[in-house]
Amino acid sequence: MNDILGDWKRSIYCGDLRKNHIGQQVCLMGWVHRRRDHGGLIFIDLRDRTGIAQLALDPDRDPEAHSKAENVRNEFVIAAVGTVSPRPSGTVNQKMATGEVEVEINELRILSTAQTPPFMLDEFTEVAENLRLKHRYLDLRREGIQKNLILRHKVAQTVRNYLSNHDFLEIETPFLTKSTPEGARDYLVPSRVNTGQFYALPQSPQIFKQLLMVSGFDRYFQIVKCFRDEDLRADRQPEFTQIDCELSFVDQNDVMAIMEGMIASIFQEALGVKLSLPMPRMTFPEVMDRYGVDNPDLRFEMELVNITELVRDCGFKVFADVASKGGLVKALNAKGCATFSRKELDDLTEYAGIYGAKGLAWVKIQDDHAWQSPIAKFFKNEELNAIADALDASPGDLLLFVADQSSVANESLGRLRGHLGQKLGLTNPNEYRFVWVTEFPLLEWDGEERRHVAVHHPFTAPMDEDIPLLDSDPGKARAKAYDLVLNGSEIGGGSIRIHNQSIQNRMFDLLGIGEQEARVKFGFLLDALDFGAPPHGGIAFGLDRVMMILTGAESIRDVIAFPKTQKATCLMSEAPGPVEERQLRELGIRLAVRPKP
Ligand code: AMO
Ligand code: AMP
Repeated sequence: MNDILGDWKRSIYCGDLRKNHIGQQVCLMGWVHRRRDHGGLIFIDLRDRTGIAQLALDPDRDPEAHSKAENVRNEFVIAAVGTVSPRPSGTVNQKMATGEVEVEINELRILSTAQTPPFMLDEFTEVAENLRLKHRYLDLRREGIQKNLILRHKVAQTVRNYLSNHDFLEIETPFLTKSTPEGARDYLVPSRVNTGQFYALPQSPQIFKQLLMVSGFDRYFQIVKCFRDEDLRADRQPEFTQIDCELSFVDQNDVMAIMEGMIASIFQEALGVKLSLPMPRMTFPEVMDRYGVDNPDLRFEMELVNITELVRDCGFKVFADVASKGGLVKALNAKGCATFSRKELDDLTEYAGIYGAKGLAWVKIQDDHAWQSPIAKFFKNEELNAIADALDASPGDLLLFVADQSSVANESLGRLRGHLGQKLGLTNPNEYRFVWVTEFPLLEWDGEERRHVAVHHPFTAPMDEDIPLLDSDPGKARAKAYDLVLNGSEIGGGSIRIHNQSIQNRMFDLLGIGEQEARVKFGFLLDALDFGAPPHGGIAFGLDRVMMILTGAESIRDVIAFPKTQKATCLMSEAPGPVEERQLRELGIRLAVRPKP
């Protein structure tokens, strides 16, 4: 029996109080959000995860409760019993869900006292993120982040319902495992019992979910943590959550159709937004040509235009040289942006530079259609006209150009397009533009390692008609892979898998993974493929990224209860940290580098 609560039981959440409760006796429990003294009368805003209720304490009604209330401070935990009453006319607060009522308190108990929090727990005060992360348990009391996590629960619930209704089984896969190749570094865990050996935390459950298909589970899903030691960005965490799915006896269209349904039910349940299905699709070559990146934001146009042929023989050496060396000259039209200042143009140039652009040529189209541009003098009139036509240029427009090898020209101008979309306010947060990107290349050349690497992962199947290319021209082979992109963010990706050992071996061969290495790393998968593997495929969605879009969060940390910083640390628990000498000895580990104190 908990003494302090006695026989008190909470009868209702604070945020649920409404006019129809007037006259009822209620018992509320929560945190003191604010206390106001009005010459004798005391008002307390009491908060729980549902919202805020106003408590009124009148010294004449109950002097004892009133005098206790005089002692409460912000963030004290209290319980209070009283009668729900209409607020006196003129004091109704229409902005609050509970703003028409208050609770006239007869009895009050202080359940816990609290120190003054290091920052205000409201939505209006800007607080340094590091301070918030250090006291995350307090930060998590704030309404905004509570809403995000409550919505995240709802999304997870919707996913479980949808997938269960479509015959998926939720099956757990191990965290202490071997390396799963998704392209990042592994987090390693030393084994004490097997000294000198290490587990790897999974970058995804990829191999295990394929094995579950070989075992006949037919449809699997898991809402699962994945671990990747990679450079962190605003939409990346070292541990993040996937909605991971795998299906047997399906082709690409089946997977995409079932998953569109899941995404649609998430948007319906979480936002009340009805998506129109099927979602549009675009091949990888088409998105690269039109947007320069494989995760384009389709909420605005501003497409890239390939003008390489128009400038092949022009007098601007930078463009002509790139064209003659097999590179690309690409351009976009920032409509109405001829007013940009020198400084703004410099900023755009610097932005494109992040992605390798060696320069950013610009043209302002003047009222008489003439070009104001440092490069205008290099072009003949008919060249100017042809370029202006290709870009549909009108007076007041700003044309931007990058000339480089194709990867740099595409990426830098494609990223610049995204940046301009944000800057110009073309990205309506309430608009949701999905696109499936298909027909990715199977392999890409890694210049540093001087070998092919898998674009998706090594278990992805080539397109049937491209299998002969594996021998003749592997770089040209396309994969049965697909990504789902929403508003410029890659929210999911998957593929149909290789379900045949000889093609899988051929794939390892192309990736420069020798027979010996393949056996050591993936022998169990190769064996399994030889014991009756059904055709199968799947996908994984980044739940955190989906939540960012659903909540409008700018940072992935705002949709995760206990996130890591960009340096992969937890400011609250101070992980990672040093361990005791004894623990290292047990693990047979000696440090070559002393950790910084
Ligand atoms: P992939 O590596 O594309 O595929 O990952 C799937 C999705 O997970 C999200 N994601 C991340 N989210 C936050 N932080 C990260 N560091 C991070 N890395 C990835 C992205 C991405 O689209 N096993 C395959 C899936 C499959 O083939 O079925 C896989 O993991 O939203
Ligand atoms: P320069 O002749 O080097 O002064 O360049 C003239 C203009 O062309 C400047 O605005 C440069 O930013 C731009 N420029 C230079 N290199 C490139 C390139 N590779 N692609 C696009 N523009 C470039």
